Amino acid sequence: MQPDITTTPALEVHDLTVAFDRKPVLWNIDLKLPAGKLIGIIGPNGAGKSTLIKTVMGLLPLSSGYVRLYDQPIDNVRGRISYVPQRESVDWDFPASVMDVVLMGRYGKLGLFRRVRQADRDVALDCLRKVGMEAYANRQISQLSGGQQQRTFLARALAQQADIYFMDEPFAGVDAATEKAIIGLLQAMTEAQKTVIVVHHDLQSVTRYFDWVIMLNTRLVACGPTETTFTQQNLQETYGGKLTLLSDVGDLIRREHFPNREGISKPAL
Ligand SMILES: Nc1ncnc2c1ncn2[C@@H]1O[C@H](COP(=O)(O)OP(=O)(O)OP(=O)(O)O)[C@@H](O)[C@H]1O
Ligand SMILES: [Mg+2]
Repeated sequence: MQPDITTTPALEVHDLTVAFDRKPVLWNIDLKLPAGKLIGIIGPNGAGKSTLIKTVMGLLPLSSGYVRLYDQPIDNVRGRISYVPQRESVDWDFPASVMDVVLMGRYGKLGLFRRVRQADRDVALDCLRKVGMEAYANRQISQLSGGQQQRTFLARALAQQADIYFMDEPFAGVDAATEKAIIGLLQAMTEAQKTVIVVHHDLQSVTRYFDWVIMLNTRLVACGPTETTFTQQNLQETYGGKLTLLSDVGDLIRREHFPNREGISKPAL
């Protein structure tokens, strides 16, 4: 029997430490995430955001601790989990069409003879439509723009029809209109009790986009509802001196209602 996803945490991470060459890049992380929320992971470059997702997905070994999804080990629930990797980590020269890539999202759900059926193609096409990419179904992925590549990977994730989605910087290289359309799509998914966890760099849009936020910098700074967690103090702790690049954090939070990306003045580096 499947646990009730409205009461069981979608994700529980306990005492998690991950190290490369004995150097910890995630240290003693403890968190629980509710199901049915849109959740942002924020933190500076190198904070361990991608490492956290990859570890939760079982792609990297843990030095200590455990991870449970819907109160189960990952191997029991793999079919319910979907992962969109950071775009730079994908081999875009791989010879595959957009449709091929989206159909890969169906592999976990293929029937007895492991053949792609018309029903799978229909789901794939529907997912391409949701991200505005149906006209590109037969295009080779090497011939897509960055934003189109990102949308293709999003369509592949949607085609998995999972319950929990991990997306590593899905808005990198995506134009403002597409970002808006995608965030609407993600919000609709959470209304259907899906849990969507997104690595995000644009601090200005955090309060508009996310119900919950994970603030990370090797250690967990904070995790909770955005309203109470995305505070000036936690931002300062997460970004430390680097936040001075963004002039004034208080100013940043006040400006969150101005949706244009250029609204915040970043001093030249
Ligand atoms: N395979 C690896 N071997 C050694 N060190 C690694 C490896 N992968 C990541 N790291 C290191 O672990 C730290 C965390 O990396 P990670 O990719 O998780 O950061 P991130 O928060 O996703 O950063 P970004 O915002 O730049 O994507 C970094 O210092 C990185 O150099
Ligand atoms: Mg990363």
